[in-house]
Amino acid sequence: MSTQNLLTADAKRATVVDHYRRLAGRYDEFLYYSPRFVRALTAKMIRALDLRATDRLVDLGCGTAMYSLDILEQVPLASSVVAVDPIREMLDRIPEGAPVTRWAMGALEFSAVGSYDKILIKEAVHHEEDRATLFANLYARLSAGGRLLLVHVPPRLGYPLFDAALRRAERWHADPDELERQLAAAGFTVQREGLDYPHAIPTKTYFQMVANCYMSVLSSFTPEELGEGLQEMEAKYGSRPVLEFTDHFDYITGIKAA
Ligand SMILES: C[S@@+](CC[C@H](N)C(=O)[O-])C[C@H]1O[C@@H](n2cnc3c(N)ncnc32)[C@H](O)[C@@H]1O
Repeated sequence: MSTQNLLTADAKRATVVDHYRRLAGRYDEFLYYSPRFVRALTAKMIRALDLRATDRLVDLGCGTAMYSLDILEQVPLASSVVAVDPIREMLDRIPEGAPVTRWAMGALEFSAVGSYDKILIKEAVHHEEDRATLFANLYARLSAGGRLLLVHVPPRLGYPLFDAALRRAERWHADPDELERQLAAAGFTVQREGLDYPHAIPTKTYFQMVANCYMSVLSSFTPEELGEGLQEMEAKYGSRPVLEFTDHFDYITGIKAA
């Protein structure tokens, strides 16, 4: 890897850490959208994971654990969810008394320990560069018949963002075809599905979310670039009271042989 690439990777990591530390306090406000949205995603997660009450579930890159907490409302698990995230400020937002065990560490470090039945990684896999090692480690940690589910937005977004952000997201997010290949190389049998969710968000609210860099890729722009991007969005979408767009999620499930 060239020095330039190493510097770029370091800069990206620093941006991601700063982004989530700053966003933690408002993460649910910007990313929860609605109970209907979260339930649509979790209902499909439960099916893809083939989740059973006796499963030991890991939420890797859990953030505020909003998805595993909603999963627990539908499938009460016998053991606590293992909620893992390197950003302590994110883990601190998980409600006191929730049946989760908090682990403050990155996915790769976590993948070297423990044994589990089901692992969920929702919109966090793009933050781990060494995915070959991560998936091989997680394969080894899973029980026979265990499942690893990746849920994430693809590189090409249908969001009403400014052009430079849409273009940068193409390199920022993980490529689902590559994720499939990497899971297969680690030994998993892979299944892939999709979920399309129609959003209708007041334009002012969405502009505020962008101004507050609700997605990590937005935090990679300077304040000036972000300001220009918001002006571009104002010119394009400012006259609409509500922004309607489709959020696409890939559901990529790796299944370990029984
Ligand atoms: C977009 S958020 C998703 C959070 C949660 N899964 C959700 O969907 O609400 C991405 C999360 O990945 C975490 N993260 C960043 N780097 C990570 C790493 N190397 N390993 C695991 N998680 C990481 C961030 O701290 C953040 O909480």
